[in-house]
Parts: sequence; C-alpha cells; structure tokens
Amino acid sequence: MPKERLYKKYAKFYDKIYAKKSYVEEVEFVRSVMRKFKAKGKNILDMACGTGTHAKLFSDSGFRLVGVDINREMLKIARKKAKNAIFLESQMQSFRSKDKFDVITCLFSAINYNRNLSELKNTIMKFYELLKKGGIVVFDLGFIKGKKGRIGGAKLDTYSEKGLQIARIGQANPSKDDPDVCKIDFLIFIKNKGTIDFEIDEHELGMFSVREVKNTMAKAGFSVKIYGGFTLKKFTNKSKVPIFVGIKK
Ligand SMILES: C[S@@+](CC[C@H](N)C(=O)[O-])C[C@H]1O[C@@H](n2cnc3c(N)ncnc32)[C@H](O)[C@@H]1O
Repeated sequence: MPKERLYKKYAKFYDKIYAKKSYVEEVEFVRSVMRKFKAKGKNILDMACGTGTHAKLFSDSGFRLVGVDINREMLKIARKKAKNAIFLESQMQSFRSKDKFDVITCLFSAINYNRNLSELKNTIMKFYELLKKGGIVVFDLGFIKGKKGRIGGAKLDTYSEKGLQIARIGQANPSKDDPDVCKIDFLIFIKNKGTIDFEIDEHELGMFSVREVKNTMAKAGFSVKIYGGFTLKKFTNKSKVPIFVGIKK
C-alpha cells in the first residue's frame, strides 16, 4: 500500500471522527495487563501510534513513550499532542531500535496493516526482538478471517461542530486479488468554514484467524493470552474483539 494514500488531509480530522473512542479504557486495560503480568519498567513503544492519543495518556501518567507510525501527517498531530513522547516515522515491518521496551502496544486494528501471514510473522518477531525479557505486547485484531461483520455494507460516520461538518462513508470488501485481504475505501466530505473538500482514502488490511495469530506469536516465543474486548475476560466467539497479549518468556 503506497503510504501516500492513507490519512492525508484526513489526518487532521481523525480525532474528530473518533472523538467517542474509548482511548482511556484501552490504556487502563494495558495498565491492568501490566499489573497482572508484573511488567517492570516504564518504556513503552506504541506501534502505529496515529495521532498519539494513547501516547499522550501513557506519557501523562509517567511512562516514557516512543510512538512509531508510517504517516507524517498523523505524527505531526501526535507531536503536538504528546509533548513528552518521542515520535518516529517508520513502517512497523522495518522499524529498528537500539533500545528495548517493557511494553509494546499496536492498537485499533493496526496489526491488520500486515497484509499476509509472512508480514504478520515478521512484525511479531520484530515485537519479540524489541521487548526486554518479561516484556509484554498488546494488540487487538479488528479484522478476522472469515468473520463477515464488517465486510460488505457501507458505513456512515459523521461529525459536526460550529463551522465544521464531516461525513465519512466507508465500504469494506474482500480484495479481488486475495479474499483474505480486506479493502476499505473511505470517501470523506469535509465542509470547513464554508469550504467544501473531499478525500478518498484506501486501506488494505490482512485478515487472520485467531488461531493463526496465536500460533504465530507462540512460534516467535511468546506466552500468549487472548482476552475478549478490552477486559480481562477470556476471549470467546461472542466477544467484541480479540485482544492478544504476548509475554516474552
Ligand atoms: C486505525 S489507525 C490507529 C492509530 C492509533 N493506534 C489509534 O488507536 O488511534 C492505523 C494507523 O496505522 C498506521 N499505519 C498503517 N500502516 C502502517 C505500517 N505498515 N507501519 C506503521 N504504521 C502504519 C496509519 O498511518 C495509522 O496512523
């Protein structure tokens, strides 16, 4: 996926569209996982950090935060938002660092930006390398192979405040070339202080089964737990989204 097709003009409206997303709960969940598995240390890597909302919440509560994202526009916003964090531009698949981390997060379906099993393996092995012994990785799998839920129809999200109206239509379909890749096209209409603009955003996401992800993590060396939603309840088929937690043994 050429990165210039993702979140260009739309980056500055990303936080508006996701204004109701429960970032606080997600950060609380990660902290409860850290307590449960006795993660020591304060160094967190937030992979595919986007506009840095998780990063800000972590760094405001005393963690040293490094955020990594492929998208320069998203990173500009993150840098303004979380002044004490460090932000780096890189693909998750090729990120390198001399430093090792106590925790790695990769949230809001960002793990699905690995388009096939080989990319996923590479990324998970990278997470393993980047963690200290006893370190923890946490990510959600928003797009699951074979799960129809988000595939097919169209979804409309809107946001409005004085002088600004946003409407975003999203369509998710299996790619013609590979049924395990989900293609999401967004058409975003923005009316900002009377000026109308629009953007087309295209995303390609790899879909994996829960078992594939679990096996990939186990092969990389992780001890794996799967929770249901951002809670410490075990994942079942009725859970909202699987949250994978890997502990580096
Ligand atoms: C759905 S957003 C999630 C952002 C953030 N984690 C959040 O919860 O708001 C996905 C993010 O992944 C980034 N991204 C996509 N592909 C990536 C890749 N290969 N490596 C690093 N970041 C990537 C995008 O630029 C975008 O900021």
